[in-house]
Amino acid sequence: MFHLAWFTNPRAHGWTANGADRWAGNDILPERWQTLSFLKDMARQLEGACFDFIMIEDHVVLTNDKQNLEPRIDPMIVMPVLAEATRKLGIIGTFSSSFYPPFLLARQINSVDHISGGRAGWNVVTSSEDWAAQAFGKDKQPPHDERYAIADEMLDLVKQLWDAWDPNPWEMSAETGRYVDPTKFREFTFEGKYHKSLGPLNVTRSPQERPAICQAGSSPAGRDFAAKHADVILCSTFGQNSVQALKDFRDDVRARVARHGRDPDDVKVMYLISPVLGDTEEAAQQRYQEVVGMTPAILAQRLGRLTLHTDMDWTKFDLDAPFPDIDPAGVTQGFQGMIASLKAFSKGKTLRETLSEQETTSLKLIGTPEQVADQMQAAIEEIGGDGFLMHARPLTRRYLAEVLDGLVPILQRRGLVRGEYTTDTLRGHLKAF
Ligand SMILES: Cc1cc2nc3c(=O)[nH]c(=O)nc-3n(C[C@H](O)[C@H](O)[C@H](O)COP(=O)(O)O)c2cc1C
Repeated sequence: MFHLAWFTNPRAHGWTANGADRWAGNDILPERWQTLSFLKDMARQLEGACFDFIMIEDHVVLTNDKQNLEPRIDPMIVMPVLAEATRKLGIIGTFSSSFYPPFLLARQINSVDHISGGRAGWNVVTSSEDWAAQAFGKDKQPPHDERYAIADEMLDLVKQLWDAWDPNPWEMSAETGRYVDPTKFREFTFEGKYHKSLGPLNVTRSPQERPAICQAGSSPAGRDFAAKHADVILCSTFGQNSVQALKDFRDDVRARVARHGRDPDDVKVMYLISPVLGDTEEAAQQRYQEVVGMTPAILAQRLGRLTLHTDMDWTKFDLDAPFPDIDPAGVTQGFQGMIASLKAFSKGKTLRETLSEQETTSLKLIGTPEQVADQMQAAIEEIGGDGFLMHARPLTRRYLAEVLDGLVPILQRRGLVRGEYTTDTLRGHLKAF
């Protein structure tokens, strides 16, 4: 069996730069997406299909490419709303280790774990944008690997904060007048290189003991950090379309997990995919051409996103010259792994061709639901485990129906994915098989 999860953003969906998508309906209207009505419906549907979790992607600032702005809603607000709309689905929010005081974030995520009955997760990102640092009153972001060192120390502190209460601390004695047994928590001081705090939290131990940790770093420092802390690791090879590359990634992180003294089976690796489905193979291929169809507006949108993710200005490069021969670590403190993957993919292509043909996902899955189910099954058999993180391009109710009512039931009938929940918590879902 393998796991299924959904990757989304708290921003306008179904919106494509060329307005080509005919199925977005009113969900692209600001008064619709900004009230989360579509996200709530989506979460309920994902739960109906027994997904492990919904992951809410985030960046805290706009892109430096001011021509292509994508406003959002804060995931810390989205999480409880989705928790209230569902009963079993795991809900992972993205929060930067660079900006939150550890005590505040530990308290908030722990609180979401309580109100959701143990379904909260934290996608730990270190954030690459200097603008974000400046928004929070700093001059710029620390160098790439140091950001992971800061995050590592933050996780050590956050875990201590989560662990500082014993389960079931309630005394509730009319005799003593105490609600809480005062022996059931530990005070402690934490003084590290980057963080300082006095614990414990005033929120008790959460249903999962510790909310689940999710991570998506691909550099050596990122993989090591994930191997030490994560329950689930998100993997994209950005269009390399190679099952072997995914197997290599999984083998590498599992070896790192073992080096940290953890059981590799306790960490699930989820591969980012965006299947394109059709009633026939030809129809699916035609849909794919529409999805990747490159208009100047879409190209501009991709340049904007690349600028945001890599924290460097890509508009300065000649679109029709070969993909720039740059050393990612030498040019940016942003997403270096993304540039490395694009470079590997570009081989002899121009920047324009690379951006047109590039995929954000790991495998190219195009066909009828049966054909895509075959491809997913074959890929997992070859890789050895764990599951897929699905995302839509563009995200519409039609796409959701195609995946959740078309593809997923086939996988369920084959016994490849969960047909009903067997646990109530996010970590429970992840560890169920
Ligand atoms: C599936 C996936 C989801 C991600 N979601 C976010 C996100 O929400 N916010 C963010 O700042 N970075 C996100 N990232 C980026 C990673 O956290 C990480 O910064 C990036 O992969 C670069 O890692 P590296 O510098 O270790 O190579 C995501 C990456 C992947 C593959």
